[in-house]
Amino acid sequence: MRVGILISGRGSNMVAISEYKRRDPTRPYEIALVASNVPEARGLVAARRLGLKTWAMSHRGMERSDFDRHLDAALREAGVELIALAGYMRLLSDEFVDSWEARILNIHPSLLPLYKGLDTHRRALIAGDEYGGCSVHVVTRDLDAGPVIAQARVRIQARDDPDSLAARVLEEEHKLYPIALEQYVIALRGETANG
Ligand code: GRF
Repeated sequence: MRVGILISGRGSNMVAISEYKRRDPTRPYEIALVASNVPEARGLVAARRLGLKTWAMSHRGMERSDFDRHLDAALREAGVELIALAGYMRLLSDEFVDSWEARILNIHPSLLPLYKGLDTHRRALIAGDEYGGCSVHVVTRDLDAGPVIAQARVRIQARDDPDSLAARVLEEEHKLYPIALEQYVIALRGETANG
């Protein structure tokens, strides 16, 4: 299955997904495109080094729906069948989400349904939670609210600050996302085969 990965920054989850495939080329997906709304995103440099096809366009000064139409065209042109958001820091328009129904995954750095949106690690620390973590979920119109398909927990330590917790959660993200994506691809393929 042809996967498109959307990034806005560092792109470490994108690299993890790419590495997982490189370690075993029989994995049932290939990265058809890495796309970004930030042309200077560090992750785009990493993607090109990995030999991946990239696309970038700044969203600045554009209506959300116009930008998303360009993005949609680039993804379809690359033959993308499934989208993985990986640090894509922009809300997608309802039209875009609807036209890719059940075909967009996201990784979020909290144990959803806890802490949708930003600043998740700080919020977990302030709440005195025992665990932080990350979730892979299907994207629906509502932010970070679609069905969760995989989670990993990280025990919070007394000396943690948001950065130290984020770093340990990120390590789990890099393990979780490639596997969750692969499992989702297998499930989608099963559905297609069954009609
Ligand atoms: C990750 O923490 C992810 O959970 C969140 O944004 C961050 C992206 O990091 N959605 P990277 O760009 O993959 O390094």
